[in-house]
Amino acid sequence: MERVLSGIQPTGEIHLGNYLGALRHWVEMQDSFDAYYCVVDLHAITVPYEPAKLADRTISTVAQLLAVGLDPAKATLFVQSHVPAHTELQWLLNSVTQYGELRRMTQFKDKSQGQDAVSAGLFNYPILMAADILVYNADRVPVGDDQRQHLELARNIAQRFNQRFGDVFTVPDAAIPGVAARVMDLANPENKMSKSASSTQGIVGLLDPPKQVAKKIRSAVTDSGAEIAFDPAAKPGISNLLSINAAVTDRSVDDVVAEFDGQGYGHLKVATANATVAFLEPIQARYAALMDDPGAITAILSTGAKKASQQASEMVIRAKDAMGLLAG
Ligand code: AMP
Ligand code: TRP
Repeated sequence: MERVLSGIQPTGEIHLGNYLGALRHWVEMQDSFDAYYCVVDLHAITVPYEPAKLADRTISTVAQLLAVGLDPAKATLFVQSHVPAHTELQWLLNSVTQYGELRRMTQFKDKSQGQDAVSAGLFNYPILMAADILVYNADRVPVGDDQRQHLELARNIAQRFNQRFGDVFTVPDAAIPGVAARVMDLANPENKMSKSASSTQGIVGLLDPPKQVAKKIRSAVTDSGAEIAFDPAAKPGISNLLSINAAVTDRSVDDVVAEFDGQGYGHLKVATANATVAFLEPIQARYAALMDDPGAITAILSTGAKKASQQASEMVIRAKDAMGLLAG
């Protein structure tokens, strides 16, 4: 069975971009792949954050993953920092990664721009991400479009390692969806929806109260003109609403365009707002029930970490051996 791995940061509230670009594919893939999904807390500490909230946000993130349909009986769910093999492999991969490659990463450029204290962790972030993937020999990595460059780097690192030290790692393929791989900010549809960059009006959290969700979508900034057409370059606002509508109603974008053809933007906004609210309702109910029993969540994570550690530590031994380190 092919293996899949992906990760999400414990930023507190998962948004529609995370869900549509990545998580719903995690859920689909758990049925046909040997799936490993982790909450990447070690990535979250590379930028300023609130230590007192990190553990709770990690639990809440896992509850949201379960609420959208991840099933611990099918997928291995765990927290990155509970599996030390990730950071161990990262150190090894540091030596097969070029400074110049890291400097070219657009996410690093975006996140470091204008900051006066940029951590070495932020610079090395893509190497830890490569280690997350390679330490399980993952074949496929379901992510949104913004992770394309990081995935390409992980592939290059794997290929270079294999060339220099022998065939150890599987070279992973990105699995980037055709629809909604880049959900845009509702208030500013030229930018992606992002926890760090979007204003509250531009971002729909999975746990936002229904009234707020409806209001944000109904007030989405749309383009001039009146024609309903899917054209992300010329009509980013309308195309974003069409993608969201298609995703939450489980239809193709073409079907949604056909439904709203000839109608005004207002119609599309109201229908998309209603459909999104209806879609989020059962997720929010499941989340509330799961958060009533955080002990059950920690138990799932503990089982996940044990299983993940077994796989991952074997790969670290193989990598160390290939690199010529003395066996312990
Ligand atoms: P993060 O919250 O940065 O850990 O992202 C988790 C997953 O969501 C990654 O696979 C991202 O590529 C994906 N993602 C984040 N923002 C968006 C967005 N606006 N549209 C589509 N996918 C996204
Ligand atoms: N960098 C990814 C993001 O911000 C999160 C991530 C960390 C990840 N490790 C990963 C995604 C491994 C896929 C595979 O979205």
